[in-house]
Amino acid sequence: MKALVYRGPGDKGLEDRPRPQILQPGDAIVRMARTTLCGTDLHILKGDVPTCAPGRTLGHEGVGVIDAVGAAVTTFRAGDRVLISCITSCARCDYCRRGMPSHCETGGWLLGNAIDGTQAEFVRIPHAETSLYPIPAGADEDALVMLSDILPTGFECGVLNGKVAPGGTVAIVGSGPIGMAALLTAQLYSPAEIIMIDLDPHRLEVARQFGATHVIDSSAGDAAAQVMALTGGRGVDTAIEAVGIPATFQLCQDIVGPGGTIANVGVHGCKVDLHLETLWSRNITITTRLVDTVTTPMLMKSVLSGRLDPKRLITHRFTLDTIIEAYDVFGQAARHQAMKMLITMEAAQPG
Ligand SMILES: NC(=O)c1ccc[n+]([C@@H]2O[C@H](COP(=O)([O-])OP(=O)(O)OC[C@H]3O[C@@H](n4cnc5c(N)ncnc54)[C@H](O)[C@@H]3O)[C@@H](O)[C@H]2O)c1
Ligand SMILES: [Zn+2]
Ligand SMILES: [Zn+2]
Repeated sequence: MKALVYRGPGDKGLEDRPRPQILQPGDAIVRMARTTLCGTDLHILKGDVPTCAPGRTLGHEGVGVIDAVGAAVTTFRAGDRVLISCITSCARCDYCRRGMPSHCETGGWLLGNAIDGTQAEFVRIPHAETSLYPIPAGADEDALVMLSDILPTGFECGVLNGKVAPGGTVAIVGSGPIGMAALLTAQLYSPAEIIMIDLDPHRLEVARQFGATHVIDSSAGDAAAQVMALTGGRGVDTAIEAVGIPATFQLCQDIVGPGGTIANVGVHGCKVDLHLETLWSRNITITTRLVDTVTTPMLMKSVLSGRLDPKRLITHRFTLDTIIEAYDVFGQAARHQAMKMLITMEAAQPG
């Protein structure tokens, strides 16, 4: 079968790989129908993610059809259409039972990281019963691909951890797919203001169409002053960090108001300064989180009912055969006005 393989920093290729086999009784083999690329895949290709070894098939998002199940799997059978969660959950360990499957003792973020992922014709899913979701007949599967990772990430790490509330003020630093997912799901709680901040004018324009009340181009260097002006000098109730660099965490510290929350979502690859000398007296909360995907069932209902429309994030479509081109476009997102790449399997030859 065809698979997109990480060969080492800066090196990837579409390779012929053996089809995955059932290894544990709880496994399922899924024939992929749709997958996508994540900013985190780009982090891996830069060499930023040491847990992902060269030779790994990338990808932790997608939908597909059950091809085979292990002896212990009773809730799925061949032919069922399923949504794949980026987080694998045993549902039994202490972390899973505390609602933190991101830290599952035999799961967590495995796909496209510790085990082969979804940018392939087939993928092996451990703990299949508790890591896959059945897709109802007639569902729009393009939209559901956004539920594997980005929607729960923006919602859980940004909106829920950030305590977005009716009438509140929210600033989202970073208007990539994760920031946009936070923007879409923040509106479920009717905050009074949602300020989107980015360096890319096109992404800010999209953010406005997606419901931002204000957008700020931070390339001029005065984003903090603009947020303070918009909030009457008070700062925001919720500052969501959705980039993952020191400058944007600093911006969140500069704009969070008394009693507010900084919800960090970004993956940080280097040291970041924490200014307790200015924050200690301001009653703020700082949260961090690896997405748990515990809200996926709720978000799926919101998508199926049309209340949430994450399909709007898809800007480009490719087949698995042309996934290298998809990476080229995604890697230069500003130039191509790109957000999410949808990869379908049609043109790939099974075998
Ligand atoms: N915590 C988790 O579980 C989790 C899960 C998935 C992704 N992530 C992380 O979330 C972050 C966002 O993901 P994404 O896919 O949206 O990434 P992305 O790279 O597509 O988007 C980041 C955005 O930040 C903007 N940006 C860069 N520098 C900026 C600056 N100085 N000021 C303002 N904006 C700036 C870019 O223009 C871009 O639009 C990444 O770090 C990703 O690895 C975390
Ligand atoms: Zn991801
Ligand atoms: Zn577990």
